[in-house]
Amino acid sequence: MHSARSAALGGSFTFLGTNLTVNRMGYGAMQLAGPHVFGPPKDPDAAVAVLKEAIASGVDHIDTSDFYGPHVTNQIIKRALHPYPKNVVIVTKVGAKRGADASWNRAESPEELRSAVDDNLRNLGLESLDVVNMRVGHLALGDAPVRAHVETLLELKREGKIKHVGLSNVTAKQFAEARAVTEIVCVQNQYNLAHRGDDAFIAELAKNGVAYVPFFPLGGFTPLQSSTLSEVAAAAESTPMQVALAWLLQRSPNILLIPGTSSIGHLRENLAAAKLELSPKMIERLDTIA
Ligand SMILES: NC(=O)c1ccc[n+]([C@@H]2O[C@H](COP(=O)([O-])OP(=O)(O)OC[C@H]3O[C@@H](n4cnc5c(N)ncnc54)[C@H](OP(=O)(O)O)[C@@H]3O)[C@@H](O)[C@H]2O)c1
Repeated sequence: MHSARSAALGGSFTFLGTNLTVNRMGYGAMQLAGPHVFGPPKDPDAAVAVLKEAIASGVDHIDTSDFYGPHVTNQIIKRALHPYPKNVVIVTKVGAKRGADASWNRAESPEELRSAVDDNLRNLGLESLDVVNMRVGHLALGDAPVRAHVETLLELKREGKIKHVGLSNVTAKQFAEARAVTEIVCVQNQYNLAHRGDDAFIAELAKNGVAYVPFFPLGGFTPLQSSTLSEVAAAAESTPMQVALAWLLQRSPNILLIPGTSSIGHLRENLAAAKLELSPKMIERLDTIA
């Protein structure tokens, strides 16, 4: 039963050095908050229904953060899924906070990281978080030091509040610096058909058994648009979004997907992409988009 579901969702992946195994097709919960990821959604019941449908379809990897809403997305996840099925892995992130004007601000001091972990625990209704990604400022900051942030997460790991540590918005150099402090099980950076700055980094992480989880797999707030993508989708009798996701699954075995949606229709469409097999010729054409 489990393996049939896994096959339908892109096969499975075990996070490095852990007993956490997830299907490669997961779900990103950011779209469940209100407009601009701020405040409650128009229809909270619909958001709950999307999460329930994801789990019923075999999704066992959910990406979130307490700064979505803030608090709103985690509270919706708790309302929909708590007590959580044993196999469900919830990955969250810390390192930012929201202003009253919906702005996104860095929150990377030890006190802010600790309080963000406590917020996640409370709002998700958990005693320990499976994976916490340290979201590092912004890539525009270049190779800013990450050691101190990761050391704080390591302390929280020792205290039992966190099980495993990941990184988000990092360079290969920052990954190496963090890895010297503690095992890093995943990296979450922006990557999709049109945004391929991490090609070499993905290969390096694959060699090391580290999961790469692209955010904005569909292009983010403005979903991908390309005539080549539409033509390949027509040839594959699929939608452009399905092709974008199938391309990522075929791109590298350490890629795990967390496409975001607030719609059950889109969720079903996205999950079905895991069954789509793109031919080498189609991939060659898609590789010209970036
Ligand atoms: N680490 C970071 O800094 C960071 C940053 C951004 C996001 N993330 C994580 O990454 C996850 C994925 O990113 P994302 O949700 O921002 O972007 P995304 O998955 O690339 O795309 C989401 C957008 O595409 C639309 N969409 C989804 N499925 C569709 C379909 N089948 N057809 C047409 N439109 C579709 C959604 O609208 P509808 O709701 O209408 O479907 C939404 O506007 C997030 O949920 C979040 O957990 C992390």
